[in-house]
Amino acid sequence: MSTTILAPSRVGESSSQTRPTDVILTGDRPTGSLHLGHYAGSLRSRLALQGHCAQTLLIADLQALTDASGRAADVAGHVMEVALDYLAIGIDPAQTTIAVQSRLSALAELTVLYLNLVTVSRLERNPTVKAEVELRGFERDIPAGFLCYPVSQAADISGFRATLVPVGEDQLPMIEQTNEIVRRVNRLAGTSVLPECRALLSSTPRLPGVDGRKASKSLGNAIPLRATADEIRRLVEAMYTDPRHVRASDPGRVEGNVVFSYLDAFDEDLTTVSELKEQYRRGGLGDVALKRRLEGVLEDVVAPIRARRGELACDRAYVVDVLRAGNEHASVTTEAVLRDVRGAFALDGGIAERFGA
Ligand code: TRP
Repeated sequence: MSTTILAPSRVGESSSQTRPTDVILTGDRPTGSLHLGHYAGSLRSRLALQGHCAQTLLIADLQALTDASGRAADVAGHVMEVALDYLAIGIDPAQTTIAVQSRLSALAELTVLYLNLVTVSRLERNPTVKAEVELRGFERDIPAGFLCYPVSQAADISGFRATLVPVGEDQLPMIEQTNEIVRRVNRLAGTSVLPECRALLSSTPRLPGVDGRKASKSLGNAIPLRATADEIRRLVEAMYTDPRHVRASDPGRVEGNVVFSYLDAFDEDLTTVSELKEQYRRGGLGDVALKRRLEGVLEDVVAPIRARRGELACDRAYVVDVLRAGNEHASVTTEAVLRDVRGAFALDGGIAERFGA
């Protein structure tokens, strides 16, 4: 079984490698509101898959706490922001379940059981965790919850019996570790109680921040999905192009030019974009004209999202209802999985059944 497949990137496009029986689970840490990088990289493919397979989006607040326990109130507040972003881009709660990780106690219990199937050295070797530990400068002071979050993520994935997980490339080690745990549970159970999963990789390359560095909320270099027209203009204005392309008549570089990365991701008119690239390379196309085009393209993407978000923000009771219904639905699934996994650990049945009273 291939463990990695490519996701469709536009609505209407479907991936020949997904099956109608696939169950999709993906998650986001609620560390802020989502930006255009999330949209190009994964939100668009979730929209494309909506209605084709069962799909759950998990707002992973417990995972966010593993490195942000000092900012717990922010994490809690961002749960609502992420839910608003999902609904604003067109996630339809009638087709896609939106659930909150901390409301699903079965996931926490699965995590505790799975912790017995994983060694500390295996967790320390997880490349995603290693890179994040370095990035955060934890050195030896790694919160135990952070070191173990791959196990909690394995609980998220297997708790929904997910077979497809849309993720960025940096998350591939998580899929591998989940499948190791799944195989161990199945061996304990003596039968296949959990399915293995495949990663669904985005077919669009990672979108850079406006300065050409990795897009991140803290660097202020990402374009939020809720950006106003003015913010879009300001951020496009600040975009890194080619420092040696001074006059419009100078030949310029397209590779590494952030404006072209965004045009590639969002401009529907592929023929014009390739003509613009030609012209830019040859010389004769100025940054100002190019940026003006991108501003228009991005405003067309963001304007409907912004409008819908504005409406939804005035009706928080509706969003709360969506989350409540999503949690209820997700509880049924995850509790059923927990029953099977408890069985694998000889913890099935009530006290009376177990002790013959
Ligand atoms: N680790 C993911 C991230 O940092 C979030 C996440 C939590 C997730 N649970 C998940 C992703 C389950 C996929 C499946 O973005």
